Amino acid sequence: MDKIKIVGGNQLRGKVYISGAKNTALPIICATLLSDEPSTIRNLPILSDIKSLNLLLEQIGTKIEGKQEELNGHTTQTFSYHTPKPESLVAPYDYVRKMRASYYVLGPLLTKYGHVELSLPGGCAIGARPMDIHLSSLEQMGAEIEIKNGYVMADVNGRLHGANITFHSASVGATCNILMAAALAEGVTVIENAAKEPEIADLISMLNEMGAKIEGANTSTLTITGVEKLHGVTHEIINDRIEAGSYAVAAAITHGCLELINANAEHLQSPIDILRKVGVKVEIRPNSIVVDARNCELNGVDIYTDYYPGFPTDLQAQFMALMCVANGASMVTENIWENRFMHIPELMRMGANINVHGHASAIVRGVKKLSAAPVMSTDLRASFSLVLAGLVAEGETTVNRVYHLDRGYEALEEKFKAVGANIERIKESDE
Ligand code: UD1
Repeated sequence: MDKIKIVGGNQLRGKVYISGAKNTALPIICATLLSDEPSTIRNLPILSDIKSLNLLLEQIGTKIEGKQEELNGHTTQTFSYHTPKPESLVAPYDYVRKMRASYYVLGPLLTKYGHVELSLPGGCAIGARPMDIHLSSLEQMGAEIEIKNGYVMADVNGRLHGANITFHSASVGATCNILMAAALAEGVTVIENAAKEPEIADLISMLNEMGAKIEGANTSTLTITGVEKLHGVTHEIINDRIEAGSYAVAAAITHGCLELINANAEHLQSPIDILRKVGVKVEIRPNSIVVDARNCELNGVDIYTDYYPGFPTDLQAQFMALMCVANGASMVTENIWENRFMHIPELMRMGANINVHGHASAIVRGVKKLSAAPVMSTDLRASFSLVLAGLVAEGETTVNRVYHLDRGYEALEEKFKAVGANIERIKESDE
């Protein structure tokens, strides 16, 4: 397995091009299954998660053609997806276990073809990750669902029908799945307590471009009037707010200055507020955000993760790395996932001073210096937090299990190298 080697101490300066949003790309690629016509998706990030989902769609019978194209100043991927007649309505275990967002085929295949077999993804490193909201909502829309041999077996006789559904948690995944299912259902579906993340608004705009009738984007009440048919479209996805937030922390922690090109400040209001409280200058430009931490003190700030527009759980680990070297104490509370502190023991191996209280809160007391160590983590964002710690640690840090980073951070070493980091990938074959 590849490793990332970082020699800490360099101040980062320059421009980072922010890629298309992974968590928007995944449901949007699956939304193409809702039409017999081809759709083209632009600004896709070059990531292993996109590759994994493409393999699943090919197994279903989707014809996929791809090319790289220059868009908004950097290289992106454009793929066209065409599923006139699926060969299989099964999402097998081997695909779903590699990438749990494979569950986004559930809503589209069930509503369009009346049947789907989806391997249950099970829990993962950050928590149990149940699917009860997805399944009970589909049942309210007329689906018959059975769990058999680890699979969700879902059927509907004729079309799904509209329903008034209230989610017990504002789940991103369930909101996407039910939006896609309801787009082709008979009658009106209302989702109360829907997720409001920008990824949802992007999916809604793609579905409406396809001919769906969805109202309420950016609010917690979504009203979907089902239509009989959707058509193909060309859609360019939004940029990745979590990648942008991650590089913003890289600027802050190295006392550097990075311009995050194509980052959308509207999607990052809470993390920007926190950075400003830390003492970092954040300038919002029409097509970029400049994060400037040169000559400034970093001060500890409390962080509480919450549903959008609250502070994103997917930036908690990165901001915790920043708090490790900030002045004073910071309380970090994880409110979304029950087990999202796996980076803490690794950060402590690098000299961080962190006390965990219960399973949801940690007190971080800033230290003057971190020291390099071989580290690894069990998830994507936690791995990035270790890279951040490595950027300021004394000595050479190696981050193992790079496949986590490859799932969600496009061209990580290239982007970091271009702004002055001493970072390189050690290929397994080099060892
Ligand atoms: C998505 C993101 C993930 C992010 C998370 C929260 C993708 C591919 N992943 O995950 O990076 O951390 O949103 O912003 O977009 N829940 C239930 N029952 C359900 C579904 C969810 O109780 O059926 C609970 C979960 O346990 C969790 C909360 O709802 O506490 C949020 O989960 P959800 O928004 O569904 O996360 P994902 O869509 O899986």
